[in-house]
Amino acid sequence: MISGIFDSHAHYDSKAFDEDRYELLSSMKEKGVSNIVNCASDIASSLVCLELADDFDYIYAACGIHPHETAECTKDFIPMLKKLCMSEKCVAVGEIGLDYHYDFSPRDVQIEAFEKQVLLAKELDMPVIVHDREAHEDVMTILKKHRPKGVVHCFSGSVELARETVKLGMYIGLGGAVTFKNARKPVEVAAYVPEDRLLVETDCPYMTPVPNRGKRNDSSYIPDVLEVIANVRGTDAQRLAEITADNARRLFSIK
Ligand code: NI
Repeated sequence: MISGIFDSHAHYDSKAFDEDRYELLSSMKEKGVSNIVNCASDIASSLVCLELADDFDYIYAACGIHPHETAECTKDFIPMLKKLCMSEKCVAVGEIGLDYHYDFSPRDVQIEAFEKQVLLAKELDMPVIVHDREAHEDVMTILKKHRPKGVVHCFSGSVELARETVKLGMYIGLGGAVTFKNARKPVEVAAYVPEDRLLVETDCPYMTPVPNRGKRNDSSYIPDVLEVIANVRGTDAQRLAEITADNARRLFSIK
């Protein structure tokens, strides 16, 4: 069994876990999962993420407004979010970013909220957890302008974009997508990312790796992701689990 796994991006506040959330999270340590960062999508879910982090010592929270939710949040959400981000177990501002695939919020609203939250992270000296779906150019423009520390999660760009991201000092988060049959780009990125910049994640309940694709995802499926990445990098999965956990602890300032 692979141990010492750090799931850098999960959504255990999701309805998908309503039936068995506490039971499942109580079983993670014996399944080899040492730490989880649970990412919020709005103010209400930030509160739930902080509660989960209070209930489980190995879970940390990221508080933020997801691009999908930016149209729904009040214009002056920053003071409230700032207060939440200053909670003891909040380790990042996230997840934040741009989503031009679904366009659930108008793009100018997404950009404004993203930029404000990047500035908040800088003010608090915290990392950001960035969601970038079909918005590579605008995401990069904002990251280059403000140079926050952080991770681009579920990285979906090319090796070239990964190189630019790493050059900014950021980390690359990889998950279930590297195991999918059509996964050319994520696999190329998995082979490229410098060892000290790689994180693994579930994005659960979504993105379940092969061979369980289609089922509800949870952190205990990360070994399937680690095996694929280890394979393309010519290393072993246990070693990669330890390296990615060290990276996550460094980025999120967890001892
Ligand atoms: Ni997510």
